[in-house]
Amino acid sequence: MPKLRFLGHSAFYIEGDGLKGLIDPFLTGNPQAAAKAGDFTDINAIFLTHTHGDHLGDTVEIAKRTGATVFTCNETAGWLASKGVKTEGMHIGGRAKFSFGTVKLTPAWHGDPIIEDGQIRYGGIACGFVIEVEGKKIYHAGDTGLTTEMKLLEAENIDVACLPIGGYFTMDITDAARAVGFIHPVRAVPMHYNTFPKIAAAPEDFAMAVSQANLLGTEIVILNPGENLEF
Ligand code: NI
Ligand code: MN
Repeated sequence: MPKLRFLGHSAFYIEGDGLKGLIDPFLTGNPQAAAKAGDFTDINAIFLTHTHGDHLGDTVEIAKRTGATVFTCNETAGWLASKGVKTEGMHIGGRAKFSFGTVKLTPAWHGDPIIEDGQIRYGGIACGFVIEVEGKKIYHAGDTGLTTEMKLLEAENIDVACLPIGGYFTMDITDAARAVGFIHPVRAVPMHYNTFPKIAAAPEDFAMAVSQANLLGTEIVILNPGENLEF
C-alpha cells in the first residue's frame, strides 16, 4: 500500500514498492516543514514541478547527497544536470515506465524560471505529475490555476489528488473544488496554503465546497504537516 506523507506547503514524501520519493522538497526555510532535508538519506526519486524556491527547495542538495533521480521538464533537467544531478527530463503529456512504476507530466498554468547569479533563464514550463506505484495513481498538480486540461485526468482514475487551494499564485478553494469535479479522484489532499500570509486558506472550507458541489465520490483528506495517508 503506497504511503504519502505531507511535509508542509507542496512537499510530500511518497513511498511504495521500489520508490522512496520526494515531491517539491521545500524544507529549508519552509515555516511548515515537518522534516529536515538531512532526514532523507535513501531517496531514489525527486519529482520537481517547477523551479520557484518554494518547490525547488532542497532538491539539488538532496539529489546530490542521495543520488536520487530528479524528474522534471526537460529544460529544468538540463540545468540540474549541469549541477551534477541525475535527471529524467520529460515533458508535458509524456509518460514513461521506470523500475517503481510510471510517471506522466501534466500541464500546469504557471511560470518556471531559472534564477541564478541575478540572471533569469528560461526553465521550460511548470508541470504536475501523475505517479503510478503499486497500481495506485497520485496526481500532484504543482502550482497551477484551474484548467480544463484537468478534465482529461478523470480517465486516469486518480486515487489521490494533491491540489493547491491557497489562491494568489494558484487555484483558490472555489477553483480547487471545481478541479475535484473535473478529476473525480478517490481522495483529494489540499496543499499550498497558510505557508505565507498571501495564501491563507481554511482547508475545512475546501471540504465544505466539495460537499456543497455534491462531489460525494471524493473524500477530502486534510493532512497536517507530518501526517501520513496510505492508499
Ligand atoms: Ni510557483
Ligand atoms: Mn508555489
